[in-house]
Amino acid sequence: MHILHVVGARPNFMKAAPVIHAIKRWNLKQTLIHTGQHYDTNMSDIFFAQLGMPEPDLNLGVGSGSHAQQTAEIMRQFETVVIDAKPDIVLVYGDVNSTVAAAIVCSKLLIPVAHVEAGLRSFDRTMPEEINRIVTDRLADLLFTPSEDGDVNLEREGISSERICRVGNVMIDSLIRFLPLAKRQSVNGLDGRFALVTLHRPSNVDDNATLKDILGVLLEISDRLAVVFPVHPRTRQRIKEFGIDASRLHLLEPLPYIEFLGMQCHAAVVITDSGGIQEETTYLGIPCLTIRNNTERPVTVELGTNVLVGQDRGKILIELNKIIDGKAKKGTIPPLWDGHAADRIASVLSRL
Ligand code: UD1
Repeated sequence: MHILHVVGARPNFMKAAPVIHAIKRWNLKQTLIHTGQHYDTNMSDIFFAQLGMPEPDLNLGVGSGSHAQQTAEIMRQFETVVIDAKPDIVLVYGDVNSTVAAAIVCSKLLIPVAHVEAGLRSFDRTMPEEINRIVTDRLADLLFTPSEDGDVNLEREGISSERICRVGNVMIDSLIRFLPLAKRQSVNGLDGRFALVTLHRPSNVDDNATLKDILGVLLEISDRLAVVFPVHPRTRQRIKEFGIDASRLHLLEPLPYIEFLGMQCHAAVVITDSGGIQEETTYLGIPCLTIRNNTERPVTVELGTNVLVGQDRGKILIELNKIIDGKAKKGTIPPLWDGHAADRIASVLSRL
């Protein structure tokens, strides 16, 4: 049995790492391909090192580009790689361009594909990730879902229940493994007294007026709580391009995995448009305000600490005041987010 993993962008790494570790225990052959969608040291290499991932067997080095350019370049290069490697199954993760590109290539070569984190839907097709999720799930032979809503969405789309396997959340496997280390990170005396911010969705950062409004609210918040903001390269480019003055916020470079997890543990609130961070804060019980109108991770709203606030200044300030007044929404941890999702995946693969 030869398993080939495809990763490409930052949120893939903490999902693939536990699966690779779990499969090692079954002594199955594994190959790791990095598409190079993310390439900066602090967006990629540092994650490999901290998560104890093996060096990729090959990095395709595709880099940045438009969606079509990036997806096509991954497909073009990956096709020869996967033909040469002859895997029995290819594992793709999450919803980035690397995920869908690899799934399309494999399905035309009749190589079975397993999708880790299948079934999530925001029902918002203006998000590139939603297109990636729908296409990948349509093509995948085996669909590993993190929560019940994933199964329901897939069945509603006509995907046979025999191909769906609810395993839980692999990203939470990584979180649980590294939490003791992360908790020991120092936050320079700011413990519980800062808002941690991340923003990188095109719908929030690519439009001048929208980005100015969101940063304006963060500036208002900074009168009451320190705002710590590790800035994604896309967002940094836009802040510069639009000439926005954000100097009253603590702007940092993107943080490594363990440092960022440590910051989440010690934050009063996390304000984000990331998908994964909605889940991490739910696990940690830290209040999360999501700057989006919808989420593909509804379980974080139904069971967890997540509140969708859109780009609405009023809503953001109301929710923030509740948190400062000690009236933050309380949550629980969703079923199967227990640190063993990757073991369940490895066990299924070992029986193929
Ligand atoms: C991608 C994913 C998104 C995920 C995010 C996490 C897709 C469609 N989007 O978005 O789902 O939440 O990663 O970060 O796959 N850049 C660098 N250095 C890097 C990588 C990117 O400077 O290492 C800059 C480039 O200018 C690039 C821009 O960031 O054009 C955006 O990168 P890209 O991979 O296209 O999308 P993300 O916004 O990172």
